[in-house]
Amino acid sequence: MTDHVLVERPEAYPGVQLIRFNRPEKKNAITREMYGKMTTALTVAQSDPAIRVTAFLGSEGCFSAGNDMTDFLAVAMGGSMGREVLDFLRALASAAKPIVSGVDGLAIGIGTTIHLHCDMTVASARSVFRTPFVDLALVPEAASSLIAPRIMGHQRAFALLAAGEPLEAAEALAAGLICKIVEAESVEERTLSLAARLATKPPEALRIARNLIRGDRKDVLARIDEEAEHFAAQLKSAEARAAFEAFMRR
Ligand code: COA
Repeated sequence: MTDHVLVERPEAYPGVQLIRFNRPEKKNAITREMYGKMTTALTVAQSDPAIRVTAFLGSEGCFSAGNDMTDFLAVAMGGSMGREVLDFLRALASAAKPIVSGVDGLAIGIGTTIHLHCDMTVASARSVFRTPFVDLALVPEAASSLIAPRIMGHQRAFALLAAGEPLEAAEALAAGLICKIVEAESVEERTLSLAARLATKPPEALRIARNLIRGDRKDVLARIDEEAEHFAAQLKSAEARAAFEAFMRR
């Protein structure tokens, strides 16, 4: 077991569970093992009354470069996809407690779409959100094809998810993907303070409020599964394999 994802309960921020990407040498690319660890953390959070809010953070200059390309290539070469990604996405989308996130720098693929399941995301001005799914011969995931058009409208969702155009922090704020732009050096503190403030609120009222605001998650879970079928098929395509090999060779 690696420490590429750290799960902590920071003492200075009571009631907060912190899930931190800790693989900066690979731009916090997420492996199957890392998804597994995050799923376990989210599952624990739902049943532990001492955890009231979950916070996701990356490292300085990089939230995450998305799914690990080596794992993608392994599937394209005939390997199994495994359950880890899907289990994580389902746990994320069904979480009953609030989730916040803090981004500084790169946020690619699931490093962007994860925030569609967060309730408040803060980001530094130098952050860039990008989902090159189609460029990799893949399709949108994490129910982003459903949630993104709802929050930012068809045109901006298409530009992000299909055209692969980057969203700078100010654009992400205008599009409703994030809720605040903060100084790069204060991303961590602002994210954790935000989480700790939420953690002091009456938990049942907060849970109900969140459910009302998020709405029924059945359609979100169904879209995650629908996208995953296309994603799995595309991962095995010759065009995807060529794209992953090109990344490895670059
Ligand atoms: N999976 C696996 N490894 C990754 C990765 C990913 N998604 N993203 C970056 N890395 C690795 C690189 O291979 C490199 O490893 P190395 O030093 O052993 O060669 C290291 O992280 C640093 O990345 P590098 O590309 O040298 O940094 P950069 O600053 O020039 O570019 C990115 C950073 C994120 C823009 C570029 O790495 C990239 O485009 N990554 C792929 C992102 C992606 O398409 N993700 C999938 C979305 S669905």
